[in-house]
Amino acid sequence: MIPYAKRIQEMACAAEVVSGFFKANADPETINFGIGSPAKETLPREQLRQIANELLSDPVTGPRMLSYGAPQGERELREVVAEVLLRPKGVEADPDNIMIVNGGIETMNLLCQLFIEPGDAIIVESPTFVHSVEIFEMFQAKCIPVETDDDGICPDAVEEAIKRYRPKFVYVVPTFHNPSGRTLTLERRKRLAELGSRYDVVILEDDPYRDLRFSGEEIPPIKAFDKTGNTILANSFSKIFSPGARLGYVLATPEIIEKLFDIKVATNSQTNTTLQLICAEYFKRGYFAEHLEKTRALYRSRCQVMMECVDKLFPAGTKRTTPEGGLFVWVTLPEGYDATELLKKAAQHKVSFAAGEGFFVEGGGMGKNCMRLTYGAIPEEKIRIGMERLAALLAEQG
Ligand SMILES: Cc1ncc(COP(=O)(O)O)c(C=O)c1O
Repeated sequence: MIPYAKRIQEMACAAEVVSGFFKANADPETINFGIGSPAKETLPREQLRQIANELLSDPVTGPRMLSYGAPQGERELREVVAEVLLRPKGVEADPDNIMIVNGGIETMNLLCQLFIEPGDAIIVESPTFVHSVEIFEMFQAKCIPVETDDDGICPDAVEEAIKRYRPKFVYVVPTFHNPSGRTLTLERRKRLAELGSRYDVVILEDDPYRDLRFSGEEIPPIKAFDKTGNTILANSFSKIFSPGARLGYVLATPEIIEKLFDIKVATNSQTNTTLQLICAEYFKRGYFAEHLEKTRALYRSRCQVMMECVDKLFPAGTKRTTPEGGLFVWVTLPEGYDATELLKKAAQHKVSFAAGEGFFVEGGGMGKNCMRLTYGAIPEEKIRIGMERLAALLAEQG
């Protein structure tokens, strides 16, 4: 037997959790509160069909769409990112400092290739996005969990951990956090940007949910407060355009982008030219604003239904977050309940969710009584049915 690389062992735990999400999603009969997909009805099928048709028919753009493109990404889409997605949020970005990547998650992979040696420390939130942990561990980084509260990651604890572990990255999902749904406050964002500069650490800001705000006030990205280039902003088109298009972007300093160029070429040459040009045109035609308005309204009401179901149907003493946007509600069941066991039974009753335990790098059963529930892709009536099924199973555990 040829031995597998050591990284396979190191990533195994996180990989098992992540692959579980994808497997649960394969059964169309299951009401799946486990995977953060956007609502199918928000996917802009008709507009994209028209755009694709027109662009492919064009004698210049058509062949360009089907040819090799720029490793850094097509200029049109980088301009859209700078002008439509970043400038209104208070981030002044030069398209030359943006790279288009193959889905938001690729940024974590490329940055690890650039910066991470086996054994390097990466600070993560507790709980954190397990798919990124899978990548960090694939590069044999040591993930160091830092406490979070209702306002997001605690900056004093981050500073302590930076001093103690000298990490390469502080990885944060600041807005409508995955899995908790919480949002990092303005003051803490400023503080994190400052900590990155003071200790010369990368603040890796992963912000794919920020446009999905359905209540409360907008807060600028951490990147807006970065004076030294230590904050790297990763984002994705998956939640606001199409996850199947596999488009994302990263904003960093010119030096980092120049190095990422080589890493990207060595990894997969470039991101899909066809979809980049279609996506850029979609934004240029101004379809995005209306799309966002409809999407936010849909998620607002679905989130409301889900929260009502938790309050009404789940055991007394259950706590939950109140997200102001994004796709996730985080539920903490009273001590003694076991969400990991619940998930196994739930599969037989055609309902699924993400068990909380998988989002804690601490292990040892931490988060066993927690659940991440996503409402984005599930119609209200189905949310009610799925939540009733879960409540009935919880009643058996209680
Ligand atoms: C926090 C976070 N980062 C990154 C991603 C990556 O998204 P994608 O690779 O689909 O663009 C996701 C998707 O669920 C996410 O929740």
